[in-house]
Amino acid sequence: MAEALRVGIAGLGTVGASVIKVVSNHGATLKRQCGREIAVTAVSARDRNKDRGVSLGNAAWYDDPIDLARSDGIDVFVELIGGEDGPALESVRAALESGHHVVTANKALLARHGVALAEIAEQNGVLLNYEAAVAGGIPVIKAMRESLAGNTVSRVYGILNGTCNYILTQMDEANVSFDACLSEAQRLGYAEADPTFDIEGHDTAHKLAILTSLAFGCQIAPDDIYMEGISNISLADIRAAGELGYKIKLLGVAQKTDSGIEQRVHPTMVPKASVIAQVDGVVNAVAIETDILGELLMSGPGAGGMATASAVIGDVADIAKSRPGFQHGPVFGHPAKKLAPYVRARMRSHEGGYFIRLTVADRAGVFAAIAKRMADNDISLESIVQRSDAGDESADEQKTVILVTHETTESAIRQAVEGIVADGHLMAKAQVIRIERAG
Ligand code: HSE
Repeated sequence: MAEALRVGIAGLGTVGASVIKVVSNHGATLKRQCGREIAVTAVSARDRNKDRGVSLGNAAWYDDPIDLARSDGIDVFVELIGGEDGPALESVRAALESGHHVVTANKALLARHGVALAEIAEQNGVLLNYEAAVAGGIPVIKAMRESLAGNTVSRVYGILNGTCNYILTQMDEANVSFDACLSEAQRLGYAEADPTFDIEGHDTAHKLAILTSLAFGCQIAPDDIYMEGISNISLADIRAAGELGYKIKLLGVAQKTDSGIEQRVHPTMVPKASVIAQVDGVVNAVAIETDILGELLMSGPGAGGMATASAVIGDVADIAKSRPGFQHGPVFGHPAKKLAPYVRARMRSHEGGYFIRLTVADRAGVFAAIAKRMADNDISLESIVQRSDAGDESADEQKTVILVTHETTESAIRQAVEGIVADGHLMAKAQVIRIERAG
């Protein structure tokens, strides 16, 4: 049997500790599957004395992850430090330059530096694996990089943040406040160190940027993403969506259009009957539309120690099974040097249906004024409903008007809403939520 694969792990938080647990509890199975043992021979973290609930055995301790990355005592460097620059970037670069394979769960790092790191990996003939960086335990990178060879992708979209999906589900099902749901997601270990990364859409955007590159063979463009988070979504939106036959999900969507590639992250109304609408809680889902296969939808645990560890271990096992000269192809599906420049489609050209919730003064002519703004911008309405919110003391003076449009453009919607604001009938900020066609 081949010699053990020597793994060095930098970062011993929830995911790092879970990886060590899996290697120790499932070592025999991994050994049978890979034809060799996987051994954690070295670790690095900030605090040597912290109780992590796992045994580090005889693993060598490194205070500096860069020293670990360069060490002769490892074959694979597993980066679980986090952050797009600093020690994560420096140690991954050092490991690749030292001829070590790298496994990382770090979506921010890859979104920012993935192409440059892929070039180093490809020059040095080593693997840079990152299954855990996107959609937790779902093997979407493997599917896009390997299983969909020959397919042309037209759209990839998904629920890519477990924390947001958990919050939206709890608000919907249990009528629990946004803040209480977020605290619980943090307690369960789903949320990022800074949870604004989750709820304002940055985490989803990082993951989407990686999927876009894999889907369309282009460079990673994390700054060219239209982004809105879920902090503005209220129970009123969730209730209205439900009554109209929709659920609200934070989606990341990348889509080919005539003018370029659209990348957007925003709360989205999806039909209740669609498969993606059934994806609740911390579960993530990724849908990929291609010419050969049609639509593929994968769902599974998107955050948490064990789900992420499962993806990390899968990547390590791939390295254990690989042999010199027989690798798994380029890091982002196409050689890093040949990735096409990213061409951004303008958000104002986005086409789709829209949900608009307006809180208006209850006086004559308001309804007609709203309808006129819609007509002036050539927006056709699917439905328009006016109602008083039961139990609301101001219900006598104000009403809620909910509009659902047929397919139109972002530009038309923005102009219509600007017009409605200018008319002076609004008593609160207009809420606009895009509707997405979903299978
Ligand atoms: N904070 C992330 C989430 C963890 O909630 O999905 C995985 O990236």
